[in-house]
Amino acid sequence: MKITIDGRSVDAQPGQTVLDAARAAGIWIPALCYHPKTGKAGRCRACVVEVEGQRGLKESCALPVREGMVVRTDTPRIHSVRRMIVELLLSEGHHNCISCQANGICELQDMAYHLGIDRPGLRIDSHPTPLDDSSPGILRESDKCIHCGRCVAACQNGVVNQVLAFAHRGSHARVVCDDDVPMGQSSCVQCGECVQVCPVGALTLKQPRERKIRPYEARPTKVTCPYCGVGCQIDLYTKDNRYAYAMAHEQDWQEQPNQGMLCVKGRFGLDFVDAPDRLRHPLVRKNGELVEASWDEALDRVAAGFKEIKEKHGPDAIGFLTSAKVTNEENYAFSRFARAVIGTNNIDHCARL
Ligand code: SF4
Ligand code: SF4
Ligand code: SF4
Ligand code: FES
Repeated sequence: MKITIDGRSVDAQPGQTVLDAARAAGIWIPALCYHPKTGKAGRCRACVVEVEGQRGLKESCALPVREGMVVRTDTPRIHSVRRMIVELLLSEGHHNCISCQANGICELQDMAYHLGIDRPGLRIDSHPTPLDDSSPGILRESDKCIHCGRCVAACQNGVVNQVLAFAHRGSHARVVCDDDVPMGQSSCVQCGECVQVCPVGALTLKQPRERKIRPYEARPTKVTCPYCGVGCQIDLYTKDNRYAYAMAHEQDWQEQPNQGMLCVKGRFGLDFVDAPDRLRHPLVRKNGELVEASWDEALDRVAAGFKEIKEKHGPDAIGFLTSAKVTNEENYAFSRFARAVIGTNNIDHCARL
């Protein structure tokens, strides 16, 4: 179907929201509580638009498209509502963009920039909340939380770990872990999905901070997680060839094996890539000591070992264990090597364990 957004004719699919259709057409509508993975929440009203023939502003993240509808996303009335929302959020929290880990990738900061807000025009005395530094990989700065609810939805319904929830009332309302315990003492499994969806600097990864790499400076490379056979797609962020942090690859997330999510290993376990003690050359044992060798020397040593065992004890004295961490093609080649070259059917795979 066709709808009109800001004077442009836009293709839309039945079941899409106005926000989805606008984004697919490259039209920017801010959305602080909606995230494609956590769905609509109706909390922030940042996404409001005007619809011809309808009274009041409508939340585009919850508004289904209709054939022929005419939508405006950028009028003085919409601007003034968005300005008020952003000014309230900035005034209520304790925001310090210069030193914030989310600087440059923060959706609230983006909104403030696009709306031309230099500094919030309001002053609200809010209750300061202590920093939660207790978890190994995640820093929680609740003073920057905008109560969008994305992290709660992600933890409850996405990864179904059910750690995060809203607690307390009125101006004391905030996101807590379990029965309001520090994250490090909670049942959190450190999957980091809450960080992945948080639009601001309220939940951040410690790894880039520890490496003194600001997230906006790092660039992503799409890689496949090396840890298990699921094949999760990861955006590995690096700066100057140094590892910074990892995020699930979110583009086309519904078609990815990991659906835009990661486990603790994929999220936090990839910093070995630039570990100083990482094995970078083959090692062979000489006089009881492991010493560096060329690949030719190491492979000759392995071949000689196989040959000797096979001659002395027969091919079935050798067994092969392959891995879900390598490709199907590599597993196939390994199987052919065991059966056709060595002559044994002693071959198994870690996925069966
Ligand atoms: S969360 Fe966003 S708006 Fe708040 S201090 Fe950090 S960068 Fe600035
Ligand atoms: S890291 Fe994972 S388990 Fe822990 S609070 Fe966040 S989403 Fe929940
Ligand atoms: S911590 Fe982040 S994702 Fe969670 S409610 Fe606050 S701003 Fe939203
Ligand atoms: S993004 Fe639509 S109400 Fe928050």
